[in-house]
Amino acid sequence: MVPLILSGGAGTRLWPVSRRAHPKPFMQLADGQSLAEKTWLRARSVAGDAPILTVTSRDYYFYTRDLYEKLGAGPDQSRFLLEPMGRNTAPAIALAALWVRDHVGPGASMLVMPADHLIRDTAAFEEAVRAAHELAGQGQLATFGMHPTHPETGFGYIRQGPAIEGTQGYQVDAFVEKPDLDTAKAYLASGDYFWNSGMFCFTAEVLLAAMAEHAPEVLAAAEVTWQATATEATPVELPAEPFSRCPSISIDYAVMENAGNAAVVPGDFGWSDIGSWKAISELYQSDDAGNRVRGKAVLVDSRGCFVQGDQRLVAAVGLEDVVIVDTGDAVLVAHRDQAQDVGQVVRQLTELE
Ligand code: GDD
Ligand code: MG
Repeated sequence: MVPLILSGGAGTRLWPVSRRAHPKPFMQLADGQSLAEKTWLRARSVAGDAPILTVTSRDYYFYTRDLYEKLGAGPDQSRFLLEPMGRNTAPAIALAALWVRDHVGPGASMLVMPADHLIRDTAAFEEAVRAAHELAGQGQLATFGMHPTHPETGFGYIRQGPAIEGTQGYQVDAFVEKPDLDTAKAYLASGDYFWNSGMFCFTAEVLLAAMAEHAPEVLAAAEVTWQATATEATPVELPAEPFSRCPSISIDYAVMENAGNAAVVPGDFGWSDIGSWKAISELYQSDDAGNRVRGKAVLVDSRGCFVQGDQRLVAAVGLEDVVIVDTGDAVLVAHRDQAQDVGQVVRQLTELE
């Protein structure tokens, strides 16, 4: 099975640490490792003899390659498809499927793995991947269903259908990407839905057939790009013309919402997409007052706060449920419960540019 590591967006909700020049997968976590390193190790554990393909921006190539090499990646094991600009996940996955078709074989399965997720129980993850691999071999587009804990509107929701005999999977009755809050609340209350993890498993040919059916304009643009690409080069660099003409759309909207052959493997492997400072803070031990600190901080009469300061001493007095992140050239001060809105800072900054 070919692991396909997707590493694209900057992760604006984790500003000021995650930036265009230093995006979320490269952020160091509590244990000193980055999400990109953890993803590579997970990929290696399920790849067998197959190569591991990373689709990323050309800006991140050297940094990512060096990270992998430090973990022992050889040039045959680690392959890259480099994008001149982001076009969201559907074009990235379509081009990866064309690479797998031509370099490994149309019947080879691929495991799509976002580079910015955390998985705590790797043994349970590997078991779910085995189940998904089996479903992929039966022509399914396999997803991994996470048990929802709150009405998150930034995720896809999967309604579980009947069991698929002889496997650990279920048919997908409905796939709804990023519903509004009321719909998400209703899904949560019904107990019939999983969160979509954003990982997928399918064979290259089944994915390409699903794209031909549900997103022919994405597939056509990807095919034109592939024909214009020096596909044997290392790394493979996708040419801006015609790649820029690929519609910018995610695999969730382009394929998963419309596919009739989707399956879901329920997974309980300590998954988190580390989407906000709230999620990051939960990786750190809290003290008796519920404060969590990375770096040097003095907290007086404060509760439920998270402070990350790598350079300067941070002091806080009388604060409750506040997130403070200091990178030396920027400071974020936010309410814990509005950690999801930090992306708006980046949007306003971009408007100022
Ligand atoms: N190479 C590449 N190029 N990667 C990309 C691009 C791109 O243009 N755009 C996004 N990615 C990568 C991101 O870096 C991330 O690792 C992954 O693809 C998913 O993209 P996100 O932008 O983070 O998607 P999302 O979080 O809004 O939604 C997806 O993930 C959720 C779970 O975290 C969907 O699959 C949801 O259904 C799912 O619930
Ligand atoms: Mg995401």
